[in-house]
Amino acid sequence: MSMMITGANGQLGNLIIANLLAKIPATQIIAGVRNLGMSSTLEALKDQGGEVRYMDYDIPETCQKAFTGVNKLLLISSSHTDDTVRLTQHTSVINAARKAGVEHILYTSFAFPQTGLKIPVSVHRLTEQVIFDSDMKYTILRNGLYIDFVDVLGLNEAIQSGVLTTRPGNWRFNAVTRSDLAQAIANVLAGEGYEQQIYELAASKTWTFADLAEVLTAFAGKTIIHSEDVSVQHWIYPFLSSIDTVSTSKDLEQLMGHPVTSLKDSIAPFLK
Ligand SMILES: NC(=O)c1ccc[n+]([C@@H]2O[C@H](COP(=O)([O-])OP(=O)(O)OC[C@H]3O[C@@H](n4cnc5c(N)ncnc54)[C@H](OP(=O)(O)O)[C@@H]3O)[C@@H](O)[C@H]2O)c1
Repeated sequence: MSMMITGANGQLGNLIIANLLAKIPATQIIAGVRNLGMSSTLEALKDQGGEVRYMDYDIPETCQKAFTGVNKLLLISSSHTDDTVRLTQHTSVINAARKAGVEHILYTSFAFPQTGLKIPVSVHRLTEQVIFDSDMKYTILRNGLYIDFVDVLGLNEAIQSGVLTTRPGNWRFNAVTRSDLAQAIANVLAGEGYEQQIYELAASKTWTFADLAEVLTAFAGKTIIHSEDVSVQHWIYPFLSSIDTVSTSKDLEQLMGHPVTSLKDSIAPFLK
């Protein structure tokens, strides 16, 4: 049995491979990369007998060649900024997988597309449909919003000033860390019995900006209050409004086998 993880040089791909190396023999793992410059995780994979293969979503022949002998393929969604290009890339990878005889395709989609507004998630819904129509076995791993968005909220400035200022609204967040997602996805890849399933990999409880201010208070050792201001301008707010940040699921915790990382631990990497 051999599995390939695409986007393996990326942040999520690297974490998934690091988790897999602790679970299954490296000889079963193939990293699909567009750039052959390698991270320490991919070096470790090679050292332990795993493979690193070149593949570019934009060049179908490279994908079909790279998928030779691959039973399970994890397609990590493209990081291209244009959704039309992403859909073309994903479709091309899925077609190449089918032609190469891949039995089971897994795809990192986006959580709760049915309740979010269409624009940011439509590429994921459309990619899911291409997979459903492909006749390969599938597992859809709908990743929740990465916690990283907190980095643009001015957390360090809030610690200095004592005030976390956000745009008014009934904001609640089901965001998760890449590390949690990688654990769950690695468990699915290494395990059996996840075919024809769709998982919503979001947090099981939401948090608010008031909760965030409380956590900042614990870090700062002084009170950080939360305040709302209509004049706060940032592209992140329209983006957050366009997706479902509120729905929750136990899927991620069940696939990991333990609770998601706490808000405090999740935001620690973003504090100076
Ligand atoms: N859930 C969320 O909140 C959220 C947020 C942001 C992104 N995402 C999605 O989640 C994906 C994984 O996240 P991440 O943090 O791991 O992103 P990342 O660090 O940017 O990694 C993306 C990977 O995709 C690879 N890639 C891009 N275009 C490719 C192509 N044409 N052919 C082959 N590989 C290609 C990149 O290769 P190179 O190393 O060669 O560039 C990179 O390794 C992203 O790509 C994006 O679709 C989700």
